[in-house]
Amino acid sequence: MAAVTTIDLPGLTKIATGKVREMFVDEADPSSLLFVATDRISAYDVVLHNGVPHKAAVLTQLTAYWFSVLSQPGVLAGQTAPLSTHLLSLSPGPTARLSDAEKSLLRGRCMRVRRLRMFPVEAIVRGYLAGSAFAEYCNQNTVHGEPVGIADDGSSSSSNVRFPRGLVRCQKLPAPVYTPSTKAELGAHDENITRAQAAELIGNPAHAARIEELALAMYTAAAEHALKRGIIIADTKFEFGLDEATGEVVLADEVLTPDSSRFWLADQYEAGREQDSLDKQFLRNWLVKEGLKGKEGVVMPADIVEQTSKRYTGVYERLTGQTLESALAELK
Ligand SMILES: Nc1ncnc2c1ncn2[C@@H]1O[C@H](COP(=O)(O)OP(=O)(O)OP(=O)(O)O)[C@@H](O)[C@H]1O
Ligand SMILES: [Mg+2]
Repeated sequence: MAAVTTIDLPGLTKIATGKVREMFVDEADPSSLLFVATDRISAYDVVLHNGVPHKAAVLTQLTAYWFSVLSQPGVLAGQTAPLSTHLLSLSPGPTARLSDAEKSLLRGRCMRVRRLRMFPVEAIVRGYLAGSAFAEYCNQNTVHGEPVGIADDGSSSSSNVRFPRGLVRCQKLPAPVYTPSTKAELGAHDENITRAQAAELIGNPAHAARIEELALAMYTAAAEHALKRGIIIADTKFEFGLDEATGEVVLADEVLTPDSSRFWLADQYEAGREQDSLDKQFLRNWLVKEGLKGKEGVVMPADIVEQTSKRYTGVYERLTGQTLESALAELK
């Protein structure tokens, strides 16, 4: 199966192109979107020239898997209202505007979703201190603007600190924390912000509170689920949107995938050093070795593509206990 890096569907209107996905609307049904993943891959913030076979299917089917796990009654601690997601179906849906060849190209990589007004924040939850949060912790003595070593309620009770002093790289935090960021336009970098700043961007305090509580409950449930399968979810990013027809806060985008999360192998984890990313490390190591880190238009050789593809499908299989092939065979 060859990698697909661009998708055009002449019968539909393409309304957006992200680093990985393309979004289409059928003018006959403007309330939903065709949300299509490509096999594009980025490393060190640059999209590589060629794609990774099966990557789109991994991202799409893994998101669908998590939607199903997290929607089960009782899985999200403290939640009585059911989780509402943007997923309508894993097939393109009733559209007469797609040819059979296009439908077969879309198989496994598309979702028909509710079209939402996206909130302009990334709802990041961290169980471990890595990446930009660790850099901020070291350089500014804050994490997403919150001073290190100060309790959430401003008291100095050391039993209640979210970010104690003296943490090392990739150390587990006392408890998972919601650390939002801005959602930058294509090409720009997201900025870490405080919860108060996120609430301001979200606009409605009830929506902001709902996003925070759902993000924390989902991370906690997913991290426990993944750890039983040998994977640490160090941190992850959720996106939410408002369904303007119902006023509901809806979980959107991709969820708990290797592109939206840091996944580490639990049996190789050791605080105090960088951890290998389960999926992209192989590619990153190759880029560094070849002096291609951060360069535009890099073409990966066949063995790097193949090894990376195997790692993505491996993560899918480990987390879901099912082969990607069998998940795809179950699709209508
Ligand atoms: N249900 C939805 N309705 C409207 N927009 C959505 C919905 N779900 C996700 N989106 C938006 O669709 C886009 C998905 O594209 P993609 O993941 O390629 O983009 P990206 O976010 O630019 O890249 P990256 O994920 O690497 O940051 C995001 O901008 C996301 O906010
Ligand atoms: Mg995205």
